[in-house]
Formats: sequence, C-alpha cells, structure tokens
Amino acid sequence: MEATCLVVLLRFCVQILAFPAYLLWYLGIWEPLCKKLFPYFMAVVTICYNKHMSDKTKEMFSNLKDFASPTGALTLLEIGAGTGSNFQFYPMGCKIICTDPNPNFQKFLDKSLAENPHVQVERCLVAPAEDLHQVPAASVDVVVSTLVLCSVKNPEQVMKEVLRVLRPGGAFYFLEHVAGAPSSWTLFWQQIYDPTWICLFDGCHLARETWNDLEKAGFSELKLRHIHAPLKWHPTRPHIIGYAKFLNKSLAENPHVQVERCLVAPAEDLHQVPAASVDVVVSTLVLCSVKSPEQVMKEVLWVLRPGSAFYFLEHVAGAPSSWTLFWQQIYDPTWICLFDGCHLARETWNDLEKAGFSELKLRHIHAPLKWHPTRPHIIGYAVK
Ligand SMILES: C[S@@+](CC[C@H](N)C(=O)[O-])C[C@H]1O[C@@H](n2cnc3c(N)ncnc32)[C@H](O)[C@@H]1O
Repeated sequence: MEATCLVVLLRFCVQILAFPAYLLWYLGIWEPLCKKLFPYFMAVVTICYNKHMSDKTKEMFSNLKDFASPTGALTLLEIGAGTGSNFQFYPMGCKIICTDPNPNFQKFLDKSLAENPHVQVERCLVAPAEDLHQVPAASVDVVVSTLVLCSVKNPEQVMKEVLRVLRPGGAFYFLEHVAGAPSSWTLFWQQIYDPTWICLFDGCHLARETWNDLEKAGFSELKLRHIHAPLKWHPTRPHIIGYAKFLNKSLAENPHVQVERCLVAPAEDLHQVPAASVDVVVSTLVLCSVKSPEQVMKEVLWVLRPGSAFYFLEHVAGAPSSWTLFWQQIYDPTWICLFDGCHLARETWNDLEKAGFSELKLRHIHAPLKWHPTRPHIIGYAVK
C-alpha cells in the first residue's frame, strides 16, 4: 500500500517536470511534433544502442538463414523498422519488406539501405503491425521486431498478424525491452516513469510483460531468454531476446519438408506461381471437385518445367454399364451438394489424355475402400 502511494506521488513529480510536454499534448501539438522528431532521436539512440547490443543482436540473427526457402531466398518482414538499423545484420541477398506507421522514418530507411547494399528492400509500407493486410498470408519466411512490441497499441493483434503472414516453417525474431522482475527496483522506477515515458516517447511502454503475449500467441516453439542489456539507463535494461517458430500440425509431423508458400487460390488460376517454375505438381482427390478440369490441366502445364511431372490419384466414374456407375449417377447431384462440389462420376482420364502431356502413365484401379461409389480410381503420372 505504502509502495503504491509512493509510486503515485513520484509519478506526479515526474509529470510536473514534464509539464511542457503534457501541455503540448493536451493542445494536440505534441503528437505530430513527436512523430516528426522521433526518427531523429532514434537515429542517434540506435547508434548508441547498437554499440552496446550489436553482439547480442548478431547472435540472435545468426541462424536467420535456417529459415530461407528451399531456393535459398530469404523474405523477411520487419515490423516497426524505424531507421533500418537492423539491415546490417541481415544476410546477403535478403529481401526485406519494411513496415512502420510513421512515414517520417523513410529518409533514414533510405540512408540505411544505401549503406547496406547486400540487402534488397522489396516494399516499404506505412502501416501499423496490427494491420498487415497488404502482406499476403503465409508469404514471408521471417518476421523481425526489435524495440517495437513496447510501442504497439495491441500486442495480441500484432501476434495474430505475425502468425498470418509467416509461412508454416517460418520464424518470428524479437529483441524487446520489457518489465523488470517483480518487486525489483527496476520495476519500481519503471512504474513511476511509465505514463510520462509513454507520452514523451511515441507510445513506448516501459513495463510491458511482452513475454506473456509471445507465450500466448500459439507458436509451436519459443526460444526466449530474459537478459539484462548492458545499457546505462536502468529502466530499459530488462530485455527479452529470441525467436519463435511457426509450424502447422502437418509440418510439425513432417520436419523433412519445408513449405515455401501457401496460396489461397483455385487450381484453375495459378498465376501467382511463375511459369515453368516447379518440378512436380501433385493432385490427390482434387480433380473430382474442381470447377474446370480442362483449365486446371492448362495451369498445371503452365507451372511445370519441361520434362517434369504431374502426379495424380483420383476417384472417377465406374465402368460403363456397371452397377457402380449406376449408383454413382443416382447419388451424384446430392453428393456434389453435400461434399463441397465433389463429382462421383467424372471421367477424369479424358481430361488427362486431352491435356497435351508428352507421356501419360495411367492405371485404372479399384481402391480397397468400403464404400462402392468411390472405389474406381485412376493413379499415375504425366510428363510435360
Ligand atoms: C524504438 S523504435 C524501434 C525502431 C527499430 N525497430 C529499431 O530497433 O531501431 C519503435 C518503432 O516502432 C514503431 N511503431 C510504433 N507503433 C507501431 C505499431 N503499432 N506497429 C508497428 N510499428 C510501430 C515506431 O514508429 C518506431 O519506428
């Protein structure tokens, strides 16, 4: 009780000392001024910060390459990129998407880019990390946040966006100053400075328990260490550092493969996959459900490299005049309605034969399934 009263009293004293800033804030002048001046302040602070922290930052980023896509390319999204002070730590050829809600950082970002020609900035978005809708789902290998989660308005929403944009198998790297240990002097002073700090430093909170947001976010693996940063100023010393891996269930069970991208797209329109860019296309129990098998075949041939193959395993129409086909025809309209557009009696082999593959290895088999109407299958592969 006494400690709380003391915190309130000392808080008030600090607020009196910062009275001019509060006055400007109430008059609506402080915020726009702060947005303009904060990038200049950060440009100076990060030089000093990196002097003390660069060993830790280098160590944290040392395994970034482990999360590159199978082609070796690394697409990295940095939230709250600020002055671009992290570019120096990124590996050669890294493609960066920068986001920051404050557009006044741009000229500092450009300077950092000119000083770090080993990386490539693909896009700079003026956006808060709570709303990354301009970044497609599952499109980046790595997300980075340094000294940002202390400032965001809604850490929980940021975590959701990070998980949305990360491809399964990707990782979230973080280095953040956080709340001090319970009952410590550091936490005591953090609580005193906090309201004024938030006002002066563009919404930065001194005493956030950011590790809680990371633990609750739903990452599959969290490597998090609490450290004391070798900084002069006490209230910002407690830090968390590490990375969190994001695997979906299937990937967690199959660590031998890597997912490069997940696209929300029908197989009739694969324009997001470059022409002649893949070695194998696979379709199992899909051609029964697509709207236009003919268009799917065109797209498959478009994305396959010459000489590469399309593998398929599909249930199909039964033999002419068979009981299977008889019952398939009876069930078909209801089946399509109940099972998301799946057709029981498609002669999918015709689409494969007409598609224009140079070689087609196709076998009709009777799948050892209990339910009759889905027993006739085709299995095989076709070479472009
Ligand atoms: C202390 S600076 C850190 C900048 C940079 N990450 C670094 O380590 O040098 C905090 C950054 O977070 C940004 N920021 C504030 N609110 C944000 C939000 N909601 N989403 C993303 N970034 C935000 C600020 O504009 C600023 O660039």
